[in-house]
Amino acid sequence: MEEKLINLKSNLESALKNVSKEADVLNVKSEYVGKKSEIQELLSGLKDMSIDEKKKYGSLINSTKKEMEELVNQKLEDAQNKSNVSFDDSVEYALNKGSLHPVTIVAREVTDILKRMGFTVVSGPEMESEYYNFEALNVPKDHPARDMQDTYYLNNGMLLRTQTSDNQIHAMENYGAPLRICAPGRTFRNEDLDANHENTFFQIEGMVIDKGVSIENLLYVMQQVLSEVFKREVKVRLRPGFFPFTEPSYEMDMSCLICGGKGCPTCKNSGYIEMVGSGMIHPNVLKAGGIDSEEYTGFAFGIGLTRLAMMKYKINDIRVLNSGDIRYLEQFEID
Ligand code: DAH
Repeated sequence: MEEKLINLKSNLESALKNVSKEADVLNVKSEYVGKKSEIQELLSGLKDMSIDEKKKYGSLINSTKKEMEELVNQKLEDAQNKSNVSFDDSVEYALNKGSLHPVTIVAREVTDILKRMGFTVVSGPEMESEYYNFEALNVPKDHPARDMQDTYYLNNGMLLRTQTSDNQIHAMENYGAPLRICAPGRTFRNEDLDANHENTFFQIEGMVIDKGVSIENLLYVMQQVLSEVFKREVKVRLRPGFFPFTEPSYEMDMSCLICGGKGCPTCKNSGYIEMVGSGMIHPNVLKAGGIDSEEYTGFAFGIGLTRLAMMKYKINDIRVLNSGDIRYLEQFEID
């Protein structure tokens, strides 16, 4: 009997060695310690034994069965653990550090500077109505200025806004005067693409409406913004310009940092690059925004954020900015 029990246990051990899946271990379990197993039969046979035999073998059979069950249960536990998805912390992953898009970097810089000057940041819709993009900004339907800002007209009667200036009217309507807002955002134009023109680019609009606001204030704000972004005094020139929504209107150009002012494709060989459109808000625009133009005056400006990023990071082709080429775009860091 002793030998039989030892054999049963060692047979079980070798059977368990050959299996690893939970289902297979369960099969071994029922064969060796289940209801119809040999050990179970031996246990059931105890009742027919004499008292002496019962004494002799009873505890031996029982303890062997217990040992066999423990072996099976241990194996079962191993099999179950293995089948769970486990976290292997020995695998090393290369973690790629993300980076901000150059336009995002300059947009945040300009916005932060303006916020420190008390400007509230607002945003308007990229899909805009003709009213907010043109009419309310003193550009009626047949005005030639519409030609300069051809855009994508949508089937639903809306358009993709050509400028962040649409925010001027939204802000006047929403907050009234006095007012100091800036609005960074994406803008669109139907352009032939070249090194300096894209159909999708970014601007930031700024506007101050208060009593006694003058062009001096505008100049100060522009100078602060540009010198902070470029971390030095940049050479700017102010030219008379034309925008239907300002009177007088100015263009602020900055010396081209790509070629150092010598002339290159980016600056169309002029040595300067147009960076800011600005002026004193036209009374018709104040009126459209529901503001009394007798009581309040204001200035507004629009900075080309995409141009600013190109100048700051010396990017000589605007098209790479929308290319999504991460090898190129990931090299710009916030300084
Ligand atoms: N919206 C003009 C453009 O995209 C830029 C501009 C000019 C904005 C004069 C202004 C402004 O706020 O006063 O060309």
